[in-house]
Formats: sequence, C-alpha cells, structure tokens
Amino acid sequence: MSYNLLKGKKGIIFGALNEMSIAWKVAELAVEEGAEIVLTNTPVSIRMGTIDELAKKCNAEVIPADATNPKDLDELFTKSMEVLGGRVDFVLHSIGMSPNVRKGHSYDDLNYEYLKKTLDVSATSFHKVLQSAKKLDAINEWGSVVALSYAAAQRTMYEYNDMADAKAMLESIARSFGYIYGREKRVRVNTISQSPTVTTAGSGVKGFDSLIDFSERMSPLGNADAQECANFCITLFSDLTKKVTMQNLFHDGGFSSMGMSYRAMSQYNKSFKTCDDCE
Ligand SMILES: NC(=O)c1ccc[n+]([C@@H]2O[C@H](COP(=O)([O-])OP(=O)(O)OC[C@H]3O[C@@H](n4cnc5c(N)ncnc54)[C@H](O)[C@@H]3O)[C@@H](O)[C@H]2O)c1
Repeated sequence: MSYNLLKGKKGIIFGALNEMSIAWKVAELAVEEGAEIVLTNTPVSIRMGTIDELAKKCNAEVIPADATNPKDLDELFTKSMEVLGGRVDFVLHSIGMSPNVRKGHSYDDLNYEYLKKTLDVSATSFHKVLQSAKKLDAINEWGSVVALSYAAAQRTMYEYNDMADAKAMLESIARSFGYIYGREKRVRVNTISQSPTVTTAGSGVKGFDSLIDFSERMSPLGNADAQECANFCITLFSDLTKKVTMQNLFHDGGFSSMGMSYRAMSQYNKSFKTCDDCE
C-alpha cells in the first residue's frame, strides 16, 4: 500500500547491485511512494549485477559513478539534475566494501593499502557525495541524505574487521557535515544502523550466519530485513521527519539496547550441555 510519502520528490540511489541489495528495495519503494529516481553504481557493479532490471522497473536512468571519485560525483549530480529536471530531495548512500575482509586479513594483520580503500569506499565516499552535492547546490532545502551503518561502529563484533572503523567514521561524517548542511541549506543528514541483512556485502563477513542468528535471538523484535530498512529510509526521505538530522538511528529490532536475552541465554546454555569439554 502506498502512502504517497514521496510524491513529487526526486532522488539519487547509490548501491543497488542485485535484488538482495538494501538499495534495491529502497529504490522500488521510493518509486512506489511517488518519487522519480536516478540509480547509480560503479561501472563494474553495473556490468556484474542486475541494476538494469531495476532501472526498467523503476523507469529510472542509471548513471555510472565511482563514489570515491569526486569528478564522477560532480558529473552524476549534474546529469541527475538534467534528467530529473531540477535539484533532488533525497540521496541514499548504500555503499560498503573492505578488501581486508575480502582477502581474509584479520584486524591484527591489516594491509594498510587495503585499509585506505576500505575507508575511502565505505566512509570518505559519503563526505565526497555530500561535498559534491553542496558545491553544486544539488539538494533542495529540507532535503534528506541517508547512509547505512552497522552497530560495529559502537561495539566490537567478531570479524567485522576494518569495516567497524569505516562505520564509525561514516557516522561521524553524518554529524559533522549534517551541522554545516543543516545550518546553510536546511539539508538533513543521518545514518541508519541496520541489523545484519542477507545481501552480497553482508554475506562477505566471516561467520555471518551465526551473527544473524545471534542478533535475531538478542532482538525483542527480531532482525530488521532489507524491506523493513527500505520502509525506514522512506520515512527519513519524507517530510514527516524534517527536524531529524545528525543522528545515527538504530533499525535493529532493539538489539542495540540489549545485553542478554532469554532466547540467546537458552541457546548458550544448550551449548554448555553438549560441550562440557570444550574450551
Ligand atoms: N548487509 C548487512 O548485513 C548490512 C548491515 C548494516 C549495514 N549495511 C550497509 O548497507 C549498505 C549496503 O550494503 P548491502 O548489504 O545492500 O550490500 P550490497 O553488496 O548489495 O551493496 C553494496 C554496494 O556498494 C557498492 N559499491 C562498492 N564500491 C563502490 C564505489 N566505489 N562506488 C559506488 N558504489 C560502490 C557496490 O557496487 C554495491 O552495490 C552498506 O553500506 C553496508 O555496509 C549492511
């Protein structure tokens, strides 16, 4: 059911790789809610993934851009304003990648060139997107920019590796840029800290199935899935949340406020019974 929450609004959505991507669900729902959108991803992800299928469905143009490249971003915002016929009202940054995770370097054995890449792709790119948008005055007053984060920014999660550092930086950029963009242009900037979600990026984290199971047991409402994340994004793009800015908003079924739950405790106790001799 559509509420027309984004009727007449225009937006740019980064990061739809395939139909599992959180950005894919956000794109579909944004259009359902009345928005016109432009989709973007890196040229290689456009070739490897299925974004063209989404573009057809959403009647959207795909404009390639590497979010670490300021020139690409300037072109993206300029072309998007041409295609959409004016400034945009919302932007989704749904981008993350760590070569250290991909290549199996543990956190106490980081490759620092890879770390630079992790931070550039997963965090600095958010600054670059904001800086390019502001410079080109590409976002309307009361526009909304959202990036996706994870609870490892606050608390150590086994094997989340240097992505934890990237997410901490991403959330900090939302505050620092949110202050300036809010003060000067009334544009709001937030991050959503999403539950572990089955996607291509998510599944790259070692032990991901156990992480999903653990947070499901710990969260009174259970994990939030990609579709539910899209619902939340739409509220942040809508006019109903005009005074929400510089926040990291947990969308995790209550996980971030839990210490131990009955369901997690029961599972933990089971492992004691079957594993008396384990270390
Ligand atoms: N899946 C999870 O468990 C989970 C949980 C919390 C937060 N997140 C965050 O959600 C966001 C989206 O990830 P997802 O889970 O939908 O996975 P995904 O793999 O579908 O999306 C990641 C996207 O980042 C894009 N990307 C990588 N490098 C890029 C670059 N240089 N320029 C532009 N785009 C680039 C990829 O092409 C891909 O489309 C990420 O920020 C991720 O960290 C995911």
